[in-house]
Amino acid sequence: MLQAVEWLDNKLRILDQSKLPHEQFFIDIVDYRDVALAIEQMRVRGAPAIGVAAAYGIALGAQSIEAENGAEFLAQLSQVTQTFAATRPTAVNLFQAIEEMKKAAIGSNVSEIKRALVDQARQIHHKEVEATRQLSYLGAELIQDGFTILTHCNAGPLATAGYGTALGVIKAAQEQGKRISVIATETRPLLQGARLTAWELKQEGIPVTLVTDSMAGYFMNRGRINCVVVGADRIAANGDVANKIGTYTLAVVAEANDIPFYVAAPTSTIDFSLASGDEIPIEERDPREVTHIQEVPIAPEGVKAANPAFDVTPHRYVSAIITEKGIIRQPYTRELSKIAK
Ligand code: MRU
Repeated sequence: MLQAVEWLDNKLRILDQSKLPHEQFFIDIVDYRDVALAIEQMRVRGAPAIGVAAAYGIALGAQSIEAENGAEFLAQLSQVTQTFAATRPTAVNLFQAIEEMKKAAIGSNVSEIKRALVDQARQIHHKEVEATRQLSYLGAELIQDGFTILTHCNAGPLATAGYGTALGVIKAAQEQGKRISVIATETRPLLQGARLTAWELKQEGIPVTLVTDSMAGYFMNRGRINCVVVGADRIAANGDVANKIGTYTLAVVAEANDIPFYVAAPTSTIDFSLASGDEIPIEERDPREVTHIQEVPIAPEGVKAANPAFDVTPHRYVSAIITEKGIIRQPYTRELSKIAK
């Protein structure tokens, strides 16, 4: 499997997801500002992968700091972390990683702090790999032999720098010998479903049928879907889930058709500081992503377009949240608080 993010002593290698599936192109980055740009331009994307890339990016930024003492070093490190905080607002893994990196900036001299930051970034990466593997095996229990699973956007190894979340659950079910198939929504505007999920599932040998976003209701209503499994970018303390735009619509249609709607996410995606999904910041991206498909214009020039990148699914539509610490069901405020750190 290709690595979405790889630390190669003082440089970060990123698989450029914007070029997939046609080109497998790696970028070797030595300047932390280029890591931040790669996150902003979604060359690396998906909540856990953004957190991991930012952690390594901060470690990279720290290496280039020239400071006489710890206080001077920390002042410059704060500029580095602020650059990352300004990249993408919705995925909370980014902000968790920034906080963990800040806390790890400890040492009796500057070189010791720099080493501590590389170690911390590696630990964050390792933790995501383990968490996504664990939640996938736990979540696979919900998938029965013969199931057809609908998924949205991309929540596989590319999005997690690990095993995957929604696709991790699907992969683990297949590994357990269950015969399953997947319906993947293309996920406009940036087509993560068509470009990335279809590609990852084909590589895993898991049968996948690609549909446009607007076809999902048709397949649910025709009894062709046994469950929906998606990832998450941020989960509030009450179980409201921010995920790729279109997720809310899928959840409502799933409920109308009595189809279980599962969210798979590591606990690093849960934001216990937010009481509900109303407080989750939603990223607004360039309307050009809507008026164009891969740089080809598809709308009249100058037409107004909107581009919220995420939506919030109220917890009442969520049948279960699959985490590495267990499968959580309603009432979410009480059940999630049990797994808070
Ligand atoms: O805008 P993206 O491609 O970063 O959005 C990704 C998603 O919404 C994923 O579903 C989510 O991050 C879960 S990834 C394990």
